[in-house]
Amino acid sequence: MCILSCRRINTSSSVTMRKSSLKASKSSVHEIKGTKKYDDDAEATISSTISRSVSMSVGGNKQRMVAEDVVRHGNMGAPAEVYTFRELASATENFSLKLLLGEGGFGRVYRGHLKTTNQVVAVKQLDGNGIQGNREFLAEVLTLSMVHHPNLVKLIGYCADGRQRILVYEYMENGSLEDHLLDLAPERKPLDWYTRMHIAKGVAQGLEYLHDTANPPVMYRDFKPSNILLDEKFNAKLSDFGLAKLGPTGREDHVSTMVMNGYCAPEYEQTGQLTTRSDVYSFGVVFLEIITGRRAIDNSRPPEEENLVAWAKPLFKDRKNFKMMADPTLEGNYPVKGLYQAIAVAAMCLQDEASTRPLIGDVVTALEYLSIRTDEDTSETDEQAAQDE
Ligand SMILES: Nc1ncnc2c1ncn2[C@@H]1O[C@H](COP(=O)(O)OP(=O)(O)O)[C@@H](O)[C@H]1O
Ligand SMILES: [Mg+2]
Repeated sequence: MCILSCRRINTSSSVTMRKSSLKASKSSVHEIKGTKKYDDDAEATISSTISRSVSMSVGGNKQRMVAEDVVRHGNMGAPAEVYTFRELASATENFSLKLLLGEGGFGRVYRGHLKTTNQVVAVKQLDGNGIQGNREFLAEVLTLSMVHHPNLVKLIGYCADGRQRILVYEYMENGSLEDHLLDLAPERKPLDWYTRMHIAKGVAQGLEYLHDTANPPVMYRDFKPSNILLDEKFNAKLSDFGLAKLGPTGREDHVSTMVMNGYCAPEYEQTGQLTTRSDVYSFGVVFLEIITGRRAIDNSRPPEEENLVAWAKPLFKDRKNFKMMADPTLEGNYPVKGLYQAIAVAAMCLQDEASTRPLIGDVVTALEYLSIRTDEDTSETDEQAAQDE
């Protein structure tokens, strides 16, 4: 059985839908591109809360349009708070290293405690590397103010005092998928099969919302396990929208950091063209990491295994290979049929030809099915699984 056939794709309508959403997303990329003056740190000042109307003292109609958009859409969800630097310094004990949760390309993330609301939060202090950091900051605030979904991390507020750029998010108890899948601390247990499928389903649902419900549609772009955060029940939430929607800043640096990271669709690497289908490809890479426990790029492996997709593609051709693809830390504890079907879904997402990849909505349907534990799974044999396929 091909799991993706459980909901047939209506090709003509999905193509039409895709065309119109692409059109919309192009215009949104264009719109953000038009906010080039944000680049100038001195000019871009966030002076009020998103909910209490974002007003940016930057020139130009485009910037005003984005700000108005934020006000219009931002009110749909919980309002983002504005914090003073002093409040956040106090919440993080002066950005104490003992509260450090992690460090990414744009700064450090601390666990914080907001005394006024008695809330535990994650506080991301962007490096003072000026232009790029400010672009990221604005993109993150603007995008997260417009999108609200249980599988997207919630932006609680921000601080833009002076040159400080700090983002305050809901705190995710279980950290990132990377911590549980690829950087497993000795005291941590590896994720079991169904938790993995549950996480993949959450990621796909977050992406489905961004592609099909958000208006205009949002391309996520920054797929990687460290951007998939996990709450106390291992529900997955996508984080880091700084790169989402942002169009190229200039002719030279259009796909900058994305090219070599192992998650990019081939057409995106070649042309820099961003579509919902390139997000589906990146989802496929993360899903393959979830199944295999291998990193998208792992230089510590033999050359032919360094690139996960390049290693996996020849193996997709024969189901006999599928069991050796499963993460060894699962120790064989997975439903064989479920493994076969999960690998088939990953393979479809990873097709070179963008138009042949499934829509994320169909992936969600497949994962809803794969994340349900059934009695049949626990008793099935290889032969049964093979017959059912
Ligand atoms: N909201 C959050 N709750 C808990 N931990 C978080 C949160 N946001 C980020 N982190 C942790 O901080 C780390 C650094 O995050 P980030 O700056 O986004 O860099 P990167 O995504 O490149 O790792 C993440 O890997 C994660 O472990
Ligand atoms: Mg991140």
